[in-house]
Amino acid sequence: MKLSLSHYLIRCEREHGIESDLRLLLETVARACKSISHAVNKGALGNVLGSTGTINVQGEAQKKLDVLSNEILFEANCWGGYLAGMASEEMDGPVGIPLAYPRGKYLLLFDPLDGSSNIDVNVSIGTIFSVLRSPSSEEDAGEAAFMQQGTRQMCAGYTVYGPQTLLVLSVGHGVQVFTLDRDTGSFLMTQSNVRIPADTREFAINMSNVRHWDAPVRRYVDELLAGRTGPRGVDFNMRWVASMVADVHRIMTRGGIFMYPRDARDPTRAGRLRLMYEGNPMAYLIEQAGGAATNGERRILEIQPATLHERVAVFLGSRNEVERVTGYHNA
Ligand code: F6P
Repeated sequence: MKLSLSHYLIRCEREHGIESDLRLLLETVARACKSISHAVNKGALGNVLGSTGTINVQGEAQKKLDVLSNEILFEANCWGGYLAGMASEEMDGPVGIPLAYPRGKYLLLFDPLDGSSNIDVNVSIGTIFSVLRSPSSEEDAGEAAFMQQGTRQMCAGYTVYGPQTLLVLSVGHGVQVFTLDRDTGSFLMTQSNVRIPADTREFAINMSNVRHWDAPVRRYVDELLAGRTGPRGVDFNMRWVASMVADVHRIMTRGGIFMYPRDARDPTRAGRLRLMYEGNPMAYLIEQAGGAATNGERRILEIQPATLHERVAVFLGSRNEVERVTGYHNA
């Protein structure tokens, strides 16, 4: 019989001493993700496709599912008593716990619906989340409380709403994959201790931005494109879903390197992806699976955040490739 998420988390509590409140928080997040999965599956029948006509804090047009997923996660997590605050890619600043409910010791961060451009075209999308310890459970967490390095994350995970709904989770003891069983409504473990191969012949990058890249990224990608007759001496294949969850999940499954570098379109931005909602949780999971994750120069998990919505360049996946492209930056 397959192990359920609940059973796995109880085991982690007994064997690795994870706190019971953290376990209960993760059960709540997983429940919320099931509701999001349900809404995603309904699509046009649930009137959840299309835009709201509003712009989020990132300056991006919000989709109905962005807003709905954000509400589902917030409402599911505000009353349990486990959190001192939440921060979401879709909200301007940290959100406190309503006064009616007790405060807890954790901070929850999430990108409620990653890969928004794929919502309306029925391509895989997902939710990304991570948990930090709150410096204080006495008062609502302000932005400063969230400004912790990724190494301080207590756990991280993502769901993929694709042909199957998957929950990929690490509580600091490797990466486990759970598949949603729609008959029973349970997440059941379908892969344990995921390991990313150190070598790969597959890369993921939005090639349409090539003219904006820095020299080290161009050099690295040019070498991949040159294939068997180039300096690498082998052919490489390319995949780009344009949903980070789906691209990262492919790497979790068979290796690869994912890149979203900083580029010259907006030199004030360190990249497109968000450090707190995308970079840090994914870097944590990738490292837990034996891969590497850098911003081109150093470990993403060691970056000291300065603001909640800051951006980061991302190079993650199979260790030897991430080390190579990082080496080109640091040469
Ligand atoms: O905003 C995040 C995101 O949708 C990621 O999920 C994805 O990797 C990336 O943006 C796609 O970017 P682009 O539109 O440049 O392909």
